[in-house]
Amino acid sequence: MTLAELSQSAAAQFATIYGRPPRWISAAPGRVNVIGEHTDYNDGFVLPMAIERYTVIAADAALGTAQRVQLCSTGAHGEPAIIDLTKPLQPFPKGTWANYPAGVLAGFQAKGISTGGFDALIQSTVPTGGGLSSSAALEVAMATLLEAMTGRTLDPVEKALLCQQAEHQYAGVPCGIMDQFISVMGRKDNLLLLDCRSRRTELVPMSDPSVSLLVTNTNVRHELGSGQYATRRAQCEAAAKTVGVTSLRDATAPMLEQAKSRMEDVVFRRARHVIGEIGRTTQAAREIRASNWMTVGELMYASHDSLRGDYEVSCAELEAVVEIARSIGPNGGMYGCRMTGGGFGGCTVALLKTAAVDSVMKTIATDYQRKTGIEASLFVSRPAAGATVLKP
Ligand code: GLA
Repeated sequence: MTLAELSQSAAAQFATIYGRPPRWISAAPGRVNVIGEHTDYNDGFVLPMAIERYTVIAADAALGTAQRVQLCSTGAHGEPAIIDLTKPLQPFPKGTWANYPAGVLAGFQAKGISTGGFDALIQSTVPTGGGLSSSAALEVAMATLLEAMTGRTLDPVEKALLCQQAEHQYAGVPCGIMDQFISVMGRKDNLLLLDCRSRRTELVPMSDPSVSLLVTNTNVRHELGSGQYATRRAQCEAAAKTVGVTSLRDATAPMLEQAKSRMEDVVFRRARHVIGEIGRTTQAAREIRASNWMTVGELMYASHDSLRGDYEVSCAELEAVVEIARSIGPNGGMYGCRMTGGGFGGCTVALLKTAAVDSVMKTIATDYQRKTGIEASLFVSRPAAGATVLKP
């Protein structure tokens, strides 16, 4: 479904549910991270792109003087979520999807930007639980909607940080800043090199039609993932402390080596991943600019190996996809492949020749099914634009 089709569908569903057309429609994309994994909360670099998969929110002011927000989601088959604006905002029970938009609304209120009651309909083509940042897309779509409704436009960095806070405080997930930044700041035909310390961004053009990025969703998500994320963060902080730096961004491989005897082996390996990955990410940005696709592919494989061996966030299904990619090899048009996102399931991202896309997709789908018994979902996406307001 294109963004225009998705927007039309959301408008039609809004009209069916609420009996009138929407007045505003906002959209925000999901993302895939090309390289730079588990570096954002270490003040490092990441290199994601927005994908052509979006969350759209259609909305109108509530009828009469109703001081409540009504949120319906086409993905959540249940009662609409209701937020009573006459009371201080509170998170819903943990695990409720409406915590993402509610957290964003709370962030706007904390800035003194309030809205009256409104009715909204949410529809998304970002798969949930697939590691493609469906939650960031929902937060950023909500923030974009509130900007349109109130006429108050936030600075893009402030907007991304507000959405990250919603995730921390309302959804209880201690995520870094990558997902919200790319959903706000994505640009068509560009990757975004984000320095997570200074929060400066640089566009890295990726418009060569001869290469494509292929996302393979393993369609598994292992439950241990959420707790493990917080553990990884703590291990990185412990490593930085032992090395004597504020964050691993300031550590080098020799510095880590010197501190090795003073830390647990597992903490050493976590830090080795982060330090190596930060270097690979800035190098990958340079190689992409120079169209050195073989080298970019090698960096992606190296990133994957480090995430599997040192960071231990891969799983059998992600391994299956990366193994298939390696067996296809450059002769089959495959430059490189790696797990993307937090890990423990979700997706891989592969760089390949556009001419090989069809045959590679067939091979991965067939071999993955044979190896795991699970059906994967595959799609190619060009780098997409970030959040936007659409005409209803
Ligand atoms: C999740 C988090 C991001 C980032 C990645 C790992 O997607 O939301 O902030 O830490 O994991 O790179």
